Amino acid sequence: MTGLMAISSPTLSSSQLHSSLRGFRPPPHPLWLRARPSVPGPRSSRGLRVSATAALSVEQETRVQHNDSMDLQLLACPICYEPLIRKGPAGLNVPSIYRSGFKCQKCNKSFTSKDVYLDLTITSGTTEYSEFKPARTELFRSPLVSFLYERGWRQNFNRSGFPGLDEEFNMAQEYFKPVAGGLLVDVSCGSGLFSRKFAKSGSFSAVVALDFSENMLRQCYEFIKQDDTLITTNLALVRADVSRLPFASGSIDAVHAGAALHCWPSPSNAVAEISRVLRSGGVFVATTFLVSPLNTPLPLEAFQSLRQSFGQVTNSYNYFTEKEIEDLCRSCGLVNYTSTVRRSFIMFSAQKP
Ligand SMILES: C[S@@+](CC[C@H](N)C(=O)[O-])C[C@H]1O[C@@H](n2cnc3c(N)ncnc32)[C@H](O)[C@@H]1O
Repeated sequence: MTGLMAISSPTLSSSQLHSSLRGFRPPPHPLWLRARPSVPGPRSSRGLRVSATAALSVEQETRVQHNDSMDLQLLACPICYEPLIRKGPAGLNVPSIYRSGFKCQKCNKSFTSKDVYLDLTITSGTTEYSEFKPARTELFRSPLVSFLYERGWRQNFNRSGFPGLDEEFNMAQEYFKPVAGGLLVDVSCGSGLFSRKFAKSGSFSAVVALDFSENMLRQCYEFIKQDDTLITTNLALVRADVSRLPFASGSIDAVHAGAALHCWPSPSNAVAEISRVLRSGGVFVATTFLVSPLNTPLPLEAFQSLRQSFGQVTNSYNYFTEKEIEDLCRSCGLVNYTSTVRRSFIMFSAQKP
């Protein structure tokens, strides 16, 4: 057990991270948000711009400052969805976020990075309260599963028809072409295998690697810090629940969710939330495992009711038919549904009208 803990636990304590980041000065960043009424784009309820692409054009107009100061953020309170006030250095990279404090003016709740990631879950900062998600979510919070994930676990998906990391990434990039240059949130990023690729691709102004699992995010940091270019790239690590995304409505250009839908406690709450944060024209791309009733001798209704009972008893993964996934996207207000299917693998994309 001790040996396992030794290999699977995060290798950098908060104090070590703090000292390794001391004196670090992040570069100026296009996502340093300024209230500039003349820039087109979605507005928060306070009339402040929150879209990453809008913020990019703000930077083109004015050279952004890099001093420690207070400013409004793209990141929003998970309780009331108001943009957070940030105090600290600019930038959506790990070191600058680590050195910043975030506060919701409405709830008066503060959010800090006690670890390598910024915790924007509702329960962040609680001292007594704890709750458990379904096993399909809790499993990935384990240090061992997080450690093994990119070291064999994920590669096993290929046996079910997943094309593999490089091909899945290329396919997703194709779907994301209409939102190139915008801000991408890699929801349920796991150890960040796709977040890192999106960040390195240069196709996005910034990437938020978001997951509910603390250990997946720590593992993601372990990979990031092995790559000098990534540590200063606009790649943020955020802990959040997919059913409560810490972004203002209509503020995100692209959402990716690789192999995650079947793990979510409520896929309908999650897709509704993804639809809420996407801006008009924003693109959602996801992969998951399909269950095709064609592969079972049962009619669809019998299959669905069996799945419901089985799922309730075992708390196992949520697998859907392709029709169900398309229906879910439509019922959450997404349009232009399209997909690629290979055996149990599906990559689908839908857009915010
Ligand atoms: C199978 S992994 C997928 C990782 C990666 N995206 C990929 O393509 O391999 C599923 C991920 O979903 C995350 N997850 C499960 N429930 C979640 C929730 N409620 N909110 C956010 N992420 C969640 C898990 O922590 C895990 O990292």
